[in-house]
Amino acid sequence: MANTFFEGDGDLSQISQYSIGIIGYGNQGRAHALNLRDSGLTVCVSTREGSPASARAVADGFAVHTVEEVANNCEVLALMLPDEAIPGVYRDSIEPYLEARDIFVFAHGFTVHHRTIRLPDDADVLLVAPTGPGRQLRSLYEQGKGLPALLAVDQDASGLAWKRCLAYAKAIGCLRAGAIETTFREETVTDLYCEQAVLCGGMPELIKAAFAVLVEKGYQPELAYISCLKEVKLIADLLFERGLDGMRAAISNTAKFGSALTGPELVNAGTRRELEEVLSRIESGRFASLFLQDAAAGSPVTRDFLASEKHSRLARAGRALRESLDF
Ligand SMILES: NC(=O)c1ccc[n+]([C@@H]2O[C@H](COP(=O)([O-])OP(=O)(O)OC[C@H]3O[C@@H](n4cnc5c(N)ncnc54)[C@H](OP(=O)(O)O)[C@@H]3O)[C@@H](O)[C@H]2O)c1
Repeated sequence: MANTFFEGDGDLSQISQYSIGIIGYGNQGRAHALNLRDSGLTVCVSTREGSPASARAVADGFAVHTVEEVANNCEVLALMLPDEAIPGVYRDSIEPYLEARDIFVFAHGFTVHHRTIRLPDDADVLLVAPTGPGRQLRSLYEQGKGLPALLAVDQDASGLAWKRCLAYAKAIGCLRAGAIETTFREETVTDLYCEQAVLCGGMPELIKAAFAVLVEKGYQPELAYISCLKEVKLIADLLFERGLDGMRAAISNTAKFGSALTGPELVNAGTRRELEEVLSRIESGRFASLFLQDAAAGSPVTRDFLASEKHSRLARAGRALRESLDF
């Protein structure tokens, strides 16, 4: 059983004497900044010049600083930037301004696990990875609840890194729901693997393929869209709330029989071999290299893929449905 931690395990006084610099005011950065401030901690926000996020931070009541100012003045630096942007920002705007014994916080293990930057040896390096998007982290906090998180320490120069990690997780509300201890490597590999194999890669491709087969055989695109894509939410909600067994208990006997017959035919030993390949490309660091190369070249692979999807039959069916029906 994994090591789990709750509200009583975190002590805010472990970080309350420090200024916490939030670098990047996007999805995670905004939620961390607001939750930390509402927990009584001192927060400084930085955005890049000309960023639309600056106006949002001001509207939220923060004075907006440059990344350099935050790096210079804050002891805790939470790097809430896209993973591919961190090396450049760190090299140009953070590293030259560091003081001794800084504390670095990451919301995902990618940068540290793949060593895309070289952090000082005298720093504490913490992972506080909420298991969901920033807006959910914020809205649950406002309701007096929390989003579970994954926690890890990569460097413990102070001897207090784990306590500081728990304190930060408590301040953003995650210990209300519970946090699990992990490592930067485990969080990175499992996160990348699941988003590629299931959530953002495998499942959407299965939806696309199933939709295409129906439409090519003459079925109405709108119906195909509803059954292959929209209804995913119903099953996802059941899986989230009740697990696989609970989902199966809630579906019809026809659906149970159909899934027993067809599921293992579709996802078979060949699929499992492909999944092992996906995992090994992530574990070897090859995926990280491909991703960073693509980002450095202006993201042509990602851009072309998204462009090709935008006008697909499936996307058009979705737009038509949203315009004509109330969903
Ligand atoms: N999104 C999630 O659900 C989620 C969940 C858990 C963990 N995480 C992790 O959280 C971290 C932050 O991700 P995110 O999704 O919050 O990112 P994001 O929403 O894309 O926000 C990134 C912020 O960084 C700024 N930024 C981008 N490039 C920059 C640059 N070169 N220099 C300075 N600022 C720059 C953006 O500014 P502009 O507004 O000007 O573009 C924006 O304010 C990542 O490590 C990610 O893996 C994300």
